[in-house]
Amino acid sequence: MLSNCLILLMVGQAFSIPKTEEVTWYPTYHLAPHKGWINDPNGLIYHNGYYHAFFQHNPENIPEGTKHWGHARSHDMLNWEYLPIALSPSLEDDIDGIFSGSAVNLNGKLTLIYTGVSDNLNKQRQMVAISSDGVNFEKKGVVITKEGDESYFRDPKAWFQNGSWWVVIGSQTTDKLGEVLLYSSKDFFNWTYQGVLAGGNGSLGYMWECPDFFTINGKQILVISPQGLEQDGFNYQNLYQTGYFVGNWQPEQNYTIEKGFREIDHGHDFYASQSFLAPDGRRIQISWLDMWESVFAENVTGWSGMFTIPREISLNEFGDLVSKPIREIIGKRTPNTDIFDTIISSNQMLTLKNNVFSSEILIEFNLLNSSCKAIQLSLKEEPTRDEGVVLYVDIELSRLFMERYYPKYGIDKTNRSVAIDLSLSKLSLDIFVDSSSIEVFVNDGIAVMSSRIYPNNNQRKFSVAPVDGFVNVSLTSYDINVNNQ
Ligand code: FRU
Repeated sequence: MLSNCLILLMVGQAFSIPKTEEVTWYPTYHLAPHKGWINDPNGLIYHNGYYHAFFQHNPENIPEGTKHWGHARSHDMLNWEYLPIALSPSLEDDIDGIFSGSAVNLNGKLTLIYTGVSDNLNKQRQMVAISSDGVNFEKKGVVITKEGDESYFRDPKAWFQNGSWWVVIGSQTTDKLGEVLLYSSKDFFNWTYQGVLAGGNGSLGYMWECPDFFTINGKQILVISPQGLEQDGFNYQNLYQTGYFVGNWQPEQNYTIEKGFREIDHGHDFYASQSFLAPDGRRIQISWLDMWESVFAENVTGWSGMFTIPREISLNEFGDLVSKPIREIIGKRTPNTDIFDTIISSNQMLTLKNNVFSSEILIEFNLLNSSCKAIQLSLKEEPTRDEGVVLYVDIELSRLFMERYYPKYGIDKTNRSVAIDLSLSKLSLDIFVDSSSIEVFVNDGIAVMSSRIYPNNNQRKFSVAPVDGFVNVSLTSYDINVNNQ
């Protein structure tokens, strides 16, 4: 079976929004459905002048339910035009759902390869659909099947290399370990099995979902979303993870891994990443800014789930993935606060803004000229209140913590954290807040933390305070002017 989470999510929420509260949760500059449910990004591609994003979608606002591919297109990856549903269950092999997959340009036509599911999700087969106009798709049926158990065989990600088409597919061994299978084809319809690209050897869960495989700086990065990892200290704290390997591969050779699995993002909500190449050569990654089995408080307002800001990813000299918000966002922002080289003394607090809805706060701490043991940043009604979100830079532990707490909506107090390098004398946090999300890029993208948040309209005051000492801060905050609402 796919996973129990699909069934658990059918349970309705046990809360409603109190009548006295006004909430604004639909994002302004992130992709989200106006109605219904989304999960994984699918079929990301730049084709004929548009960025296309497809998404796992249930058009009715029942959490989960039968999957379709929703469809949106954009010129800047921030403002989205929503198009008719691209793929709905209709054939014997996809009658129980259109699961995740990818898009390619096949002889000039926007072509999708996706997992069709049937037999109560137990049959998962790879299928193709083609469009001449980039909007309407004609299904071409099954192109890849797996011998034996077909219940864990999904999420094809295809690319063209050395005169052939290649596809990686998430799977499970007969011993119930996650693995990624590789296939190749000359025509995109007749595929030959090329073997196991990578497998977990028992340490990385029971299923690898949503594989993505691409080259940066001559290295081949394999991204997977494994299910079944145990929490390990500060790592793997979410139900499922998304992470990457760095290695070497070329057609007809084995994939040799140089650097083992590491999580891409350290927040509460980040899953099922997919990447594609922009026409200018940037590798852009988009992920689901949610996690299976979480509360999805927005569901009571008729929609559920959203995507991350598209991120330009690169590999630094140490083989670490670096993620930066796409530069298109710079053109959408207007500065509204500028604070340069200022000391916040012990027991003082800087309140930046009362109404952070659609904002970027770029903040730099000069640690050489600071004495505090920690720095606390909060988005709350008042910083002293419990409810809300707190970023906590623990200088002694060299870690950045993000804690959120929205008890009205069944969201318990939990934190996530990531190690930060404080030897650099400066710490920069580029914080993107949208109506119900926060994404924090640390030191130019060496670490990222992404979480869903559920403030009401009064809980949007952003403050900064040093703990046990003073801090030297420079800061610019911007409004982001995109309106998908
Ligand atoms: C990952 C996933 C995929 C599957 C899709 C179903 O979140 O479980 O493996 O194709 O979601 O919606």
